[in-house]
Amino acid sequence: MLSAESLMILGGLLLTLHLHTLPCHAAMDTISPGQELASGDKLMSTNGRFALGFFQTERNSSNNVPKWYLGIWFHTIPKFTPVWVANRENPIANLTSCKLLLSSHDGNLVILANDHQALGSMIWTSKANTTTNNTIAALLDNGNLVLRSASNESIVFWQSFDHPTDTLLQGGKFGWNNSTGLIRRLVSTKNTIDQAPGMYYFELFGHNGYTSMVSTFNSSKTYWSSGDWDGRHFSNMPETVGQTWLSVNFTSTEQEKYVEYTIEDPTVLSRSIMDVSGQLKVLVWFEGSRDWQAIFTAPKSQCDVYASCGPFTVCNDVPFPSCTCMKGYSIQSPQDWELDDRTGGCARNTPLSCEGNTSAAGMADKFYPMSSVQLPADAQNVGTATSAGECSLACLGSCSCTAYSYDQGGCSIWHDKLLNVRQQGNSVLHLRLAAKELQSSKGSNRMGVIIGAAVGASTATLVLIFLLIIWMRKGGRYGDDVQGGMGLIAFRYVDLQNATKNFSDKLGAGSFGSVFKGSLNDSTNIAVKRLDGARQGEKQFRAEVSSIGVIQHVNLVKLIGFCCQGDRRLLVYEHMPNGSLDAHLFQGNGTVLDWTTRYQIAVGVARGLAYLHASCRDCIIHCDIKPENILLDGSFTPKVADFGMAKFLGRDFSHVVTTMRGTIGYLAPEWISGTAITSKVDVYSYGMVLLEIISGSRNSTKQSTLDGVVHEAYFPVQVARSLLDGDIASLVDANLLGEANLEEVERLCKVACWCIQDVELDRPTMSEVVQFLECLCEVETPPVPRLLQAMAGQQPNSKIV
Ligand SMILES: *[C@@H]1O[C@H](CO)[C@@H](O)[C@H](O)[C@H]1NC(C)=O
Ligand SMILES: *[C@@H]1O[C@H](CO)[C@@H](O)[C@H](O)[C@H]1NC(C)=O
Ligand SMILES: *[C@@H]1O[C@H](CO)[C@@H](O)[C@H](O)[C@H]1NC(C)=O
Ligand SMILES: *[C@@H]1O[C@H](CO)[C@@H](O)[C@H](O)[C@H]1NC(C)=O
Ligand SMILES: *[C@@H]1O[C@H](CO)[C@@H](O)[C@H](O)[C@H]1NC(C)=O
Ligand SMILES: *[C@@H]1O[C@H](CO)[C@@H](O)[C@H](O)[C@H]1NC(C)=O
Ligand SMILES: *[C@@H]1O[C@H](CO)[C@@H](O)[C@H](O)[C@H]1NC(C)=O
Ligand SMILES: *[C@@H]1O[C@H](CO)[C@@H](O)[C@H](O)[C@H]1NC(C)=O
Ligand SMILES: *[C@@H]1O[C@H](CO)[C@@H](O)[C@H](O)[C@H]1NC(C)=O
Ligand SMILES: *[C@@H]1O[C@H](CO)[C@@H](O)[C@H](O)[C@H]1NC(C)=O
Repeated sequence: MLSAESLMILGGLLLTLHLHTLPCHAAMDTISPGQELASGDKLMSTNGRFALGFFQTERNSSNNVPKWYLGIWFHTIPKFTPVWVANRENPIANLTSCKLLLSSHDGNLVILANDHQALGSMIWTSKANTTTNNTIAALLDNGNLVLRSASNESIVFWQSFDHPTDTLLQGGKFGWNNSTGLIRRLVSTKNTIDQAPGMYYFELFGHNGYTSMVSTFNSSKTYWSSGDWDGRHFSNMPETVGQTWLSVNFTSTEQEKYVEYTIEDPTVLSRSIMDVSGQLKVLVWFEGSRDWQAIFTAPKSQCDVYASCGPFTVCNDVPFPSCTCMKGYSIQSPQDWELDDRTGGCARNTPLSCEGNTSAAGMADKFYPMSSVQLPADAQNVGTATSAGECSLACLGSCSCTAYSYDQGGCSIWHDKLLNVRQQGNSVLHLRLAAKELQSSKGSNRMGVIIGAAVGASTATLVLIFLLIIWMRKGGRYGDDVQGGMGLIAFRYVDLQNATKNFSDKLGAGSFGSVFKGSLNDSTNIAVKRLDGARQGEKQFRAEVSSIGVIQHVNLVKLIGFCCQGDRRLLVYEHMPNGSLDAHLFQGNGTVLDWTTRYQIAVGVARGLAYLHASCRDCIIHCDIKPENILLDGSFTPKVADFGMAKFLGRDFSHVVTTMRGTIGYLAPEWISGTAITSKVDVYSYGMVLLEIISGSRNSTKQSTLDGVVHEAYFPVQVARSLLDGDIASLVDANLLGEANLEEVERLCKVACWCIQDVELDRPTMSEVVQFLECLCEVETPPVPRLLQAMAGQQPNSKIV
């Protein structure tokens, strides 16, 4: 519980409150007329559990101006925990002459600062409608500070429970009283040390006779609700929390509605807070760990909090909650950020060209694609834009537009702040940035040239080719340092010779050249591909660097760098300890991939391809998807590799690729018919690979029967027919011994058959495939592809280039 709870703390920041109360002068439990509570004094509840006094919160005594507060805290525990603060908006800088007393004028509680002025200045007052100046203040055993008539104790003028800050204590009420107009709600602190009100509210919300508790941002954007009170409980609150300790009670009368909570064991210290993170937490004190532990947190995920990381950030829940700035943005106020105050979020590094600064004039703003994100809140729909290009123009047309997204739902654009973007889902957000932000900038690196990556692919290609030309002109001298976001390292040949122990450990070979295992100085394992054949090598080299070199995705193999010295062309990748998929599927060398792993590989490859096809400004088509080009890392996460055939297509998608690429057996029919090539050729090949993942053997195998006749068994056709017959189990790899989830098998078969449809328009896109595989939508039974039956005689696995 503790570790889960500490993970909830964004950025790993721990509570940095320290208690700085002054040495105790006197401990009383009431303040009577004429008495004062001075800087070092404390008012104690009779049970000793709570104390009232002046305290200071600070992070670092050496910098900030001190901030003193009058407040109540738990007195019996070692960890200083304020539960109520009087002057949260008006801290005291110089405590020397401050004191709390009862006003002789109207009996109210007041904090006076004696500034050597006759009257002193009032820092805070309880502002109660008193009827007498004969009052006393007392700190009760439940932590409530009350101001009451000295002559009749049952007449209460004011109590701290009516004005909670971020904490609700047991015995306190939360809600509203319509006869007094009093609203009791919790408001988070500004940050982990500043007690000023922050942006997160927890309040009671009434609508059409129903009542719920809601968490809101600035009292306007609701991001969590307890659900309506149904007479016994709030529908979204669990009935029992922790070990059934917590019960929540709602009372509703004509005048007032309020919620109270009870922890069964009265000796347990507890508090409910609206945390600075925006989460509602019910915490109890554990003597064993000498710390607070949350027994209830809502919402569970930090990223579900509205504006959790602030504007222009990306919130990520895994592996632990974290906030990062969007590309081209930097943390606006690192100090606030460190104290968990993210309201400032991130700010643009370079102004947009329209922002009135002529230095950027002439350079139109560009868009940076952020993939696999959940789109921000408050989109504006532009119905008139019917293509991604029109959508981007719609955004460029307004200076306040900061991003657009174009998908099946049409064109959405966003103005001003982008909030609530998180790393989750399949959407692509195109972030508007100054053109300058997307070009490489100067820097340095130990290895030499680093090439700006993370850029719209074709721009990057141009930059890259330009740099390569400069590089070659200079005879491969390194030291010209160019650096960008995700860098590619330009290695010297001798470095790679050393890293691979003079190319001694060969991992594989093919028509392109050979791959060697190596290890860098920082003990990163690498795979070095040495391209052979001057012309062909050069083409493959460029294709690889310009495609995989400029993008990154967990399901695409990572290009670490390259070497381009004289006519030597080498590519350096991360090393994949589990080799390529074909070795595991077809060669039966001991390990049989279990079904779960197979399914995950299918999903991973689909994700990688979806990213490749959709995430960059210009579509990249891999053109050679087959098991040999799917590598597996240590945990069998698939990575699409070998971009030597990859092709960029501009957004008009009308290029006709003149040279046929790819491997027969995985080739879409349009390669052969010579019509225009789109990303659907990868979808087709992917479908073929899916079938091989299911069956554990090549799609096309020649089987000899007893009478010596060679019989063609063409698996794709078999699958398509079985889907119609409903006989799915027979399709699965026999090596799995029936250990496969048949629902998933059917899903994979259906998706595969849709992918290998003759007509490319019938095939899904890779992002649709991802959705199908993640069970987000129902898959219909596909028709049997007709061309396949005719093509069933092709030789598998021979490469045409
Ligand atoms: C306080 O600030 C100084 C200088 O900024 C730093 O060296 C020191 O480590 C800080 N102390 C704490 C407790 O953060
Ligand atoms: C605080 O106030 C006292 C008395 O008014 C004064 O003597 C002292 O100099 C002040 N301290 C600071 C840091 O201003
Ligand atoms: C209360 O107010 C009256 C007059 O307004 C004054 O005479 C009296 O001294 C005050 N009592 C106290 C305890 O200050
Ligand atoms: C205080 O009492 C006056 C008159 O009795 C009334 O007008 C006013 O609204 C009250 N103020 C509050 C905060 O209850
Ligand atoms: C105290 O005040 C309450 C409520 O106003 C009243 O009912 C009660 O009689 C008073 N008691 C005394 C001793 O005046
Ligand atoms: C609500 O206001 C009425 C009228 O002032 C008062 O009698 C009642 O006690 C109040 N309720 C709470 C819970 O403060
Ligand atoms: C009571 O007060 C709350 C909070 O101000 C308000 O939302 C609600 O409509 C009020 N109810 C009635 C019956 O006046
Ligand atoms: C919070 O709400 C207030 C009032 O509705 C508004 O003036 C203010 O701009 C809001 N602040 C933010 C950060 O949204
Ligand atoms: C809930 O409220 C009812 C009626 O006000 C009361 O009888 C009951 O004891 C309360 N339960 C808790 C756990 O506070
Ligand atoms: C415009 O650019 C200049 C130089 O780059 C910079 O000093 C200035 O602050 C910029 N002005 C605005 C409004 O961004």
